[in-house]
Amino acid sequence: MSNTPNPEWRDGTRVVRAGLPDASPGTPYMAGPVFAAPYHAPGDPTASPFTYGRFSNPTWVAYEQALETLEGGPCVLFPSGMAATAAVLATMVPPGGKLVMPEESYYTTRVIATQHFPGAWFAARGINVVMAPSVGNGLRDALDGAAVLWLESPTNPALDVCDIAALAQAAHAAGALVVVDNTTATPLLQQPLALGADFAVVSDTKAMTGHADLVLGHVACRDAMHAETIRTWRTRMGVIAGPMEAWLAHRSLATLDVRLTRQCDTAMQLATMLAVHPKVHGVRYPGLPRDPSHAIASKQMKRYGGVISFALDDAAAVTRFFAASSLVYEATSFGGVHTSAERRARWGGDAVSEGFVRLSIGLEDVQDLLNDFERALGAV
Ligand SMILES: Cc1ncc(COP(=O)(O)O)c(C=O)c1O
Repeated sequence: MSNTPNPEWRDGTRVVRAGLPDASPGTPYMAGPVFAAPYHAPGDPTASPFTYGRFSNPTWVAYEQALETLEGGPCVLFPSGMAATAAVLATMVPPGGKLVMPEESYYTTRVIATQHFPGAWFAARGINVVMAPSVGNGLRDALDGAAVLWLESPTNPALDVCDIAALAQAAHAAGALVVVDNTTATPLLQQPLALGADFAVVSDTKAMTGHADLVLGHVACRDAMHAETIRTWRTRMGVIAGPMEAWLAHRSLATLDVRLTRQCDTAMQLATMLAVHPKVHGVRYPGLPRDPSHAIASKQMKRYGGVISFALDDAAAVTRFFAASSLVYEATSFGGVHTSAERRARWGGDAVSEGFVRLSIGLEDVQDLLNDFERALGAV
């Protein structure tokens, strides 16, 4: 039986079969991880795709092929979301180029663009980083002369949404490449390449893998030549994933649709409850009809994801909330099977209030979560 993706397959089928070999008697559904540094490679080194562990690995390739069926373009695996981000920034912003990015995009992405790259590299290459809010016309107005427009939608942690198709069109008219950090949505909920972006960057640490047990990332490319440039960067810099992580990620992919469906359903119910709770303010969830992101999110996302943000009065109130909750882990990251949350201001770097909470909905029973939130908020 063939596992070649059928264009008629829906998400639930595609994730289960993605990247699997054709069914052949006596073989497992999915081969185990391949641990190898050198491979047997007599004579012509181009005769086999596998010669040395930094160049390629069959377990990466299987996962990358699975990702390609979801993203709609060739994918390159990295050992973290930040390694994927850095690979695109380093290879796609030319000397003297201009990089336009949202001022509320993921904190570390802003840090590498404004601190590491300008200091160590970007400034030396004459690169100009311009930041603007993702909501409003700021990004569009900054596009003149830009080489790369970086987008993130929904943003982490504020959950602002930008119009990817409209911005991609404007960026292309200005001659810029478009990158979308699609970590909060994943390719099942939002397809940046189909919306016109040239690259999607994803931290697979989050919902893509969802079990809180590995760190990975990938870049999806519209253009095969760009994918080759990114792959060459990976090979030369040696920023490579371990085969065990790649294998775990591929295994976790089979449940992505089931996990996201449950997380989105539960998030909608939790957000609806939080939005009217007297001790909670500033609830943001793109699925809520009154959310400022709702209209654009409904246009470009299939569903609204498993992340909600809200605020309590102050840091002490958040501490009381965590102390009273028996289901919400106090932890960073999001997208996993365990419900978790954190007071984001404890890290610094994001323009959020002291009582701002980013909440990641897991797979626990929705009624148990609603009960737990009622109880914990009652103690605030
Ligand atoms: C939106 C976003 N992009 C990129 C990253 C970086 O991913 P990683 O931690 O896998 O390097 C994160 C991590 O939180 C993120 O939230």
